[in-house]
Amino acid sequence: MNLLNEPVSTEDLIDALQREALGALERARAPYSGFQVGAAVYTEDGKIYTGCNIENSSLTLVICAERVALLNALSDGAKGIKAIMVVSGSGDFCYPCGICRQFIAEFAPDSALYIAGRKGIKKYSVSELLPHPFVRK
Ligand code: THU
Repeated sequence: MNLLNEPVSTEDLIDALQREALGALERARAPYSGFQVGAAVYTEDGKIYTGCNIENSSLTLVICAERVALLNALSDGAKGIKAIMVVSGSGDFCYPCGICRQFIAEFAPDSALYIAGRKGIKKYSVSELLPHPFVRK
């Protein structure tokens, strides 16, 4: 976990998130797919948590970088998630899978989603990527 000194500009935040996500990508455990993913999440209290994808020999027990980053934040007691950055080893834009979108919609509904690749950085809202999430009241 890294702490950013507030106030921080959006540009600095995006730079820091991309740097942290790329660092996490180096720790990906992806021997089966060979596809490395890194994620970083920024919390209301100015902290950055990271995650990478972790695969398992069962092949079904894959966990994506986004969920690992969110779980790191949530398990540390983080409340509000303000931003999520995703990067892939291929340099292509890596859009969160359906399971991650559902997870993000539930635990980080107000966050900005940044997807960085060699062609730049795209920004989405959660509802753009998952317009009709399942919610249980
Ligand atoms: N993966 C992620 O970590 N995040 C995504 O957004 C999409 C896919 C991982 C899962 C698996 O380890 C590998 O990428 C290939 O599917």
